[in-house]
Amino acid sequence: MTRVISVHPTDPDEAAVGPAATALRAGGLVAFPTETVYGLGADATNGDAVARVYRAKGRPAESPLIVHVAAAEDAWSLAAEVPPAARVLAGAFWPGPLTLVLRLSRPEVAAACGGGDTIALRAPDHAVALSLLRLADRPIAAPSANVTGRVSPVTAQHVLADLEGKVDIVLDGGRCPLGLESTVLDLTAVPARVLRPGAVETDALRRLIGEVDGGAAPGASRYQPRAELVLVLPTAAGDALAAQIERLRAEGRRVGLACSEETAEHTQADVTQAWGPRDDPDRIARRLYEALRRLDGAGVEVIVAEGLAGERFEGIMHRLRSAAARVVPPASRTER
Ligand code: TXA
Ligand code: MG
Repeated sequence: MTRVISVHPTDPDEAAVGPAATALRAGGLVAFPTETVYGLGADATNGDAVARVYRAKGRPAESPLIVHVAAAEDAWSLAAEVPPAARVLAGAFWPGPLTLVLRLSRPEVAAACGGGDTIALRAPDHAVALSLLRLADRPIAAPSANVTGRVSPVTAQHVLADLEGKVDIVLDGGRCPLGLESTVLDLTAVPARVLRPGAVETDALRRLIGEVDGGAAPGASRYQPRAELVLVLPTAAGDALAAQIERLRAEGRRVGLACSEETAEHTQADVTQAWGPRDDPDRIARRLYEALRRLDGAGVEVIVAEGLAGERFEGIMHRLRSAAARVVPPASRTER
């Protein structure tokens, strides 16, 4: 049985968060909002609770989880060494959507780290998450609260759609403000390496710590709608989006379109979800996953997604490339 507890997103009541913290301390699973996406939390020091997280998601046991903390000092206590860059970045971005990978010091959290010798740490910038972490008073392992391979949840309803019955409590704090998972930066690599781009842009990291390898490979994690996703790159010839849609419909397939508002005005598909205007990457990030879930809900077989150009779309484009069964490159050659 899953219990849903409503909680105010910016001014959470201890009476609402308290039972969730108690459940975590007893080895339960609690889904909670963060500023990025909902997390599926468990006590990172409790191997059985961590094993339940892997089972609930259908995630391979060697795939490490992010460990969430309320404050930087709690993070450092789990790390074998804390490089100066970690302190600088935590000072600038925590609490916030940046995850730092460091060497692990504490064997009791190794299961949450996929059995490896590094740990991914982050302090989330969300009043509900921080209240839960403080009341639970232990490190909380929390992957995104979706079934492995599906898109991340940005509402409590999305969590229930994937995990009802598998999670003890869902703290419903409304919609997550950012909508895209954190930037993951590996500080054990030299130079530091972005494993997953997110709201904290690679250039912002470079300005603070110097050289950063920004070439995160897509597909390191998969974030897929049920429908096959075709990504049309922004530099592809003029009406490449319309041409793709027409071709797929001519094959008799039901086609969804996920795109900017500008494109939605002049491009037709069977079902369209507009993310937002092209000059508002934050809004597009917030709407990204929900649009894909809605197109799935509308029963389309293929989703044609509009690629977007510019550094502020780095995280969004990484997720779309990871989700894509096919990428339509410039000059309309077909890849993958
Ligand atoms: O915004 C977020 O990061 C959300 C919220 C809930 O905090 N969490 C999240 O967790 O997206 P998850 O498990 O869905 O994605 C974690 C990513 C994966 O790509 C994983 O491979 C990487 O972080 N990761 C975790 N621990 C790692 C480690 N020790 N070394 C390298 N990569 C790691
Ligand atoms: Mg995930």
